[in-house]
Order: sequence, then structure tokens, then C-alpha cells
Amino acid sequence: MTQILMIEVSPRGKDSASRAVADMLAARLTDHYPSAKFVRRDLAAEHLPHLDEITLPAISTKDPAEAERLKEVAHQSDQLTDELLESDVLVIATPMWNFGIPSALKAWIDLVVRPGRTFQYSDGGVLGLAKGKKAILVLASGGVFTGGPWRSWDFVEPYLRQILGFIGIVDVQTVRAEGMNIPDLAADAVSRANKAVGELAL
Ligand SMILES: Cc1cc2nc3c(=O)[nH]c(=O)nc-3n(C[C@H](O)[C@H](O)[C@H](O)COP(=O)(O)O)c2cc1C
Repeated sequence: MTQILMIEVSPRGKDSASRAVADMLAARLTDHYPSAKFVRRDLAAEHLPHLDEITLPAISTKDPAEAERLKEVAHQSDQLTDELLESDVLVIATPMWNFGIPSALKAWIDLVVRPGRTFQYSDGGVLGLAKGKKAILVLASGGVFTGGPWRSWDFVEPYLRQILGFIGIVDVQTVRAEGMNIPDLAADAVSRANKAVGELAL
């Protein structure tokens, strides 16, 4: 059975452009994969831990005794990683904050990008282990980054494509609600993004 994993990040609820577009995408995905299992992770509600002096060894130790001792701590990362590996379609819907991703999304990434689980080094190279998935990025920003003078300030899409590629996810499409802080553009940014959702290759 197809599994769709949707990661939502914005804490702005009904005012969120990325969530509004993600809702439209969810409807299209459900239509396209009627029997799919839909898993939604709301990172604004979940408050995932940052890697700290306990979480980091719990998910990276090579000592079986230490791994056993810290197994409860590793549980959340194990679960999030299993969920990602079991999914066929990954949607990440996120705002741009300070030209990058919110720390809640970075916390999720730090919990799922794991040696031996989602990537491994081999023969001097890196092998992504989360292969064969489609990813769709739904990105909302106050400014415009697809062209113009601010383009090189976008550390959201390049970073997400790079880190997803690192774990083997290379089929990545992007939909943007951009110009949300520019009244002339904001007025129809979400409807333009919703139209782009209709044109995605699913
Ligand atoms: C803390 C914060 C930082 C932001 N930083 C940027 C930024 O660096 N560049 C930008 O274009 N917009 C920035 N914005 C505007 C948001 O990207 C914009 O409001 C977007 O619609 C947020 O997504 P959402 O509507 O899904 O919450 C920022 C907004 C907040 C609240």
C-alpha cells in the first residue's frame, strides 16, 4: 500500500500559506492514491527534541550495551525514521524563516538523517538508503526567491534538495507560495500555488 508522509511546520494554523497549499495537495494526493495510508506530522504541535547529550549518543552509538541502555531515548528517532522509510511520497510544507528552514524542521531532519538507516558511507562515497520516493516541497515565503535579486538568499530549497538527495531522495518537485509579505503578490499567491499543485507529476 502506498504511504504518504506529510510534514507540516508552520505554527500559524489557518493563516498559514504553506498549510493551505498542503491541504490542497493532500486532497489531490488522496484523489490520486485513494487507498494510500496518509500520515501527517505536525511539527508545530510536536516539539521534537534537538540532538543533545543524551539524544545524540542514543541514535549514534555503536556500542550495543549503550544502545540498549538508551533505547527509550532513541525510540522517537527510530519511529520517525521508520515512518520516512516506509513512505512512498514525502511532502514537506514549510515557511522560510530567516532565509532558511525553521528549527523544528531541522530537528526532524536531525532525527531521520542517520548513518546505517537513511545513508551510509561506502567506497569513499555516500549511499542514500531512502531511495525510490517522490518528494514535494511546499514552500511559503514573504519575499520572492524564484528570480530577482533575492534568489541567492534562498537557503530553503537548495538545502532541502541537498539533504534529501544525500539520503537518496532525488525525485523532488517544488510548489511555492511566495511574496506573502508583498501585498500585490500575496493576494493570489496561494491560488497560484494551488494551481501549480494541479500540475504536479504524481
Ligand atoms: C520568524 C519569521 C521569519 C521570517 N523570515 C523570512 C525570510 O527570511 N524571508 C522571507 O521571504 N520571509 C520571511 N518570513 C515570512 C514568511 O516566510 C511568510 O510569512 C510565510 O507566509 C510563512 O509561511 P506560513 O504562511 O506557512 O506560516 C518570516 C516570517 C517569520 C514569522
